[in-house]
Amino acid sequence: MVRLVFFRRLHTFKPFDVVILRSLAKPNEKFHLSQPLEPGLTVKTGNGPIPHEDIIGRPFRSLISSNTSSGPSQHKYIVVKPSLEEYVVNRRREAQPIYSLDASLIVELSGICVDYPLLKQGQSTSSRALSKWKQLDPKDPYESFLHTKQLSRNQNLPKDVITVEPPQQFLECGTGHGSLTLNILKEIHSGNAFYDGENDSTRGAILHSLDKNEKHMKIGLRNVKHYNHGMYWPDVEFHLVDGAPQDWLQTDVANYYRHEVGRAKDNGPFLNGVFLDMPSPELQLHLLSEALLVDSPIVVFVPSIMQIWDCLSMVKKKGIRLTLVKVYELMAGSGGGGLREWDLRKVSVRETGQDGIVVRPKVGVRTVGGGFIGVFRKLPEDSIVKTWD
Ligand SMILES: C[S@@+](CC[C@H](N)C(=O)[O-])C[C@H]1O[C@@H](n2cnc3c(N)ncnc32)[C@H](O)[C@@H]1O
Repeated sequence: MVRLVFFRRLHTFKPFDVVILRSLAKPNEKFHLSQPLEPGLTVKTGNGPIPHEDIIGRPFRSLISSNTSSGPSQHKYIVVKPSLEEYVVNRRREAQPIYSLDASLIVELSGICVDYPLLKQGQSTSSRALSKWKQLDPKDPYESFLHTKQLSRNQNLPKDVITVEPPQQFLECGTGHGSLTLNILKEIHSGNAFYDGENDSTRGAILHSLDKNEKHMKIGLRNVKHYNHGMYWPDVEFHLVDGAPQDWLQTDVANYYRHEVGRAKDNGPFLNGVFLDMPSPELQLHLLSEALLVDSPIVVFVPSIMQIWDCLSMVKKKGIRLTLVKVYELMAGSGGGGLREWDLRKVSVRETGQDGIVVRPKVGVRTVGGGFIGVFRKLPEDSIVKTWD
């Protein structure tokens, strides 16, 4: 009995969950993504609002009616948790995201890999004030919740320890909608198993996410903050840049992460990977590659194959110590990225009155995605770099 009650509690919606309300009549066509659930707020469905209070505490996949609901089923909604892909695609957007399934493939192709860090006894040697983008507003209920969550987590973390190795650091330009950001964070999250949100000497991985457009960056960072109770929020630093990403490398902030956190000597490399989804990525390759550790990837995502060619030409003409290891085309698809979604269901055939089946690629769905990925890797200093005239 006790186990049953516990099980039910685990599978109920909690404050600050983000949910999808799927119309019972057309679950795949009519649906609404909520804000983090908070008493006093509502989900506007077009068939009347649904108060968040009606969802909090209800079991997963509950049926909920909107306030103006009349008929027996037409305005009923199934409440479910969104996948990362559903979350990304349905949040308000300013910049064009990389569709989440494509973004996950980009991360996979980069080969980045992060484990729990090894710890040793020691006092923090590096921590700086939180950047203004990472500060949480205590007056905002959701942000206050994130703050309290971090404090309660900290009570169970080991004290007076630091990591044996410097954290792996990654750089992404630009943040945009935060889709690639979330997918990179998913990969590096385990590196921060012992991070208390303040002491940089306990971090095992950091993503630096750069954008030059404040509006875009604010949406991207909000998408990270609101995803799954902010589970990836501690793993990322956001930086609003004035000029090109390569100029950011010369800032005091970057120097702090290079020298104090990254324990790099002089102007030595400190980055374990770079992801570029911005205009003219070829112009960034030279200086960004100098900050990259040997064999680490620079992954470029662009809409046209000629832009990969421009990157390769730049590398070859300038003698940049990078090698192009893979070029891929991401196919346009109907499944939230370069995948073809299929339709599998039983139907009743009107003419015969008998059961039939539908087994075919889904029709009438939006085609999304497409583009090209170039994966470069950093060459060692003593390598022979062949250049083009
Ligand atoms: C296509 S969007 C990125 C989408 C993002 N990768 C995602 O998955 O949601 C391109 C972003 O690059 C940013 N950008 C353009 N030029 C930039 C620069 N010089 N430095 C940093 N970001 C830049 C834009 O403001 C925009 O937000």
